[in-house]
Amino acid sequence: MVEMTDPRVIVALDFAEAAQAQALVARLDPAQCRLKVGKELFTRGGPALVAALQEKGFEVFLDLKFHDIPNTVAKACKAAADLGVWMVNVHALGGRRMMAAAREAIDAAAHRPRLIAVTVLTSMGDADLAEVGLQGSPEDNVRRLARLTASAGLDGVVCSPREVVMLRNTLGGDFQLITPGVRPAGAALNDQTRVATPEDAMRMGASYLVIGRPITQADDPLAALMAINEAILPLLPH
Ligand code: C5P
Repeated sequence: MVEMTDPRVIVALDFAEAAQAQALVARLDPAQCRLKVGKELFTRGGPALVAALQEKGFEVFLDLKFHDIPNTVAKACKAAADLGVWMVNVHALGGRRMMAAAREAIDAAAHRPRLIAVTVLTSMGDADLAEVGLQGSPEDNVRRLARLTASAGLDGVVCSPREVVMLRNTLGGDFQLITPGVRPAGAALNDQTRVATPEDAMRMGASYLVIGRPITQADDPLAALMAINEAILPLLPH
């Protein structure tokens, strides 16, 4: 078995019910991955579910994408920090003051999760951006908002595999790039269109890979996860 000190795969727990998430997690190993809890599952399972996952030894990325006035987002980030999660995120479109308030709240907490931002939702194309008044291509907006995120002192951004090289070049080595849209060679694409393999995403400069269905829908989820870890192991710093 591959020994991982800092597992790079974050398994997306996209389940409607806490019990389904728990059943899947019982088949995983906290030494091999972290877990992402998003809006649907958190709304169902709440802090109790996050606590249960953490009790089993898993670190949790709480993917709630906070976007509100600075005071409200700061308080929400503090609440997430108090839950003991490993990572939490906000929308960069909330602006510099909102992100700085989030940073300050987390820095003041006893437990300090990593704080990242979402730049442009990958579901938004040129026409969607224009309609909400954002000029330029999705890539222009991603670059601008990632720079703003870094300058507000956040730790990284969520980005698609096709943005990894540009953001790594723009923002340097320490900035964390958390990348969904990852599919092992031969895996079903599901509804993802612009995908990269785990190896390619890591080679391009991703820090962590968010992977859902190729693991959660596999006959043997742990085997699927470990195959991904084997594939990316040679690309990790030693
Ligand atoms: O099952 P799959 O590997 O496609 O899951 C990917 C996860 O990453 C889902 O939780 C999805 O919501 C999330 N995500 C994404 N694309 C983004 C941002 C988040 O697929 N741009």
